[in-house]
Amino acid sequence: MDFEAFYKISYGLYVISASNGKKINGYIANTAFQVTASPPQIAISCNTDNFTCGLIEQSKKFSISILNQNAKAETIGLFGYKSGKDIDKFESIDYTKAQSGTPVVLEDCIAWFDCKVNQVIEVGSHKMFIATIVENNLLNADADPLTYEYYRKVKKGVAPKNAPTYIDKSPETPKETDSTMTKYKCLACGYIYDPAIGDEESGIEPGIAFEDLPDDWTCPTCGSPKEMFEAV
Ligand SMILES: Cc1cc2nc3c(=O)[nH]c(=O)nc-3n(C[C@H](O)[C@H](O)[C@H](O)COP(=O)(O)O)c2cc1C
Repeated sequence: MDFEAFYKISYGLYVISASNGKKINGYIANTAFQVTASPPQIAISCNTDNFTCGLIEQSKKFSISILNQNAKAETIGLFGYKSGKDIDKFESIDYTKAQSGTPVVLEDCIAWFDCKVNQVIEVGSHKMFIATIVENNLLNADADPLTYEYYRKVKKGVAPKNAPTYIDKSPETPKETDSTMTKYKCLACGYIYDPAIGDEESGIEPGIAFEDLPDDWTCPTCGSPKEMFEAV
């Protein structure tokens, strides 16, 4: 299998939210796409291990918020690398409720859709929910949406195990660079800090060792602090 070919499939990045009346939660998804125009229907592929999956099954409702290209690493880290099984993700996040009562994330988002599920298809590790859009709102007409390619190439993000696009590269030997400085891996999201590349988004020039990064430097992918990193 040539995994590079999979990276040529284009996606956006979204926060999918749901509630069962008692708990509200959401997760980051790249799989969300419009399947029909009339009525407007959208499909998502949700891992059955995701806490949000149960909430969607119970309520038969979910919302999709489209992430802004300049979304904070902390927002992606919160919704994409942590689970509502352990924490309250909505504690300090800007959100609203659609007319249906479904929670809708506004933080770092530029448009949203509220959806009512009308079909569930079991696809092994994931469930595909096909839903009709019942309400929507454009929050920022001028902002660009975050694409999966931008997230991978510019934000240096990776997809975790529960994402349908996860690629297991663990048997591969890490590629050598001309740097002799040690690389460090984020234990939360898998991002690798490579001193030969630096971290352009945070203004860290190539050639800066991990040890010399400022103490308040955080993972550009998920916002975790330096303590979450270990040498590879
Ligand atoms: C870039 C990215 C893309 C993701 N895409 C999906 C997806 O399409 N479907 C999915 O089920 N999980 C996806 N995930 C994983 C979930 O967001 C992640 O497992 C989350 O922690 C689940 O949260 P929950 O348990 O609170 O529902 C993705 C994560 C990231 C970072």
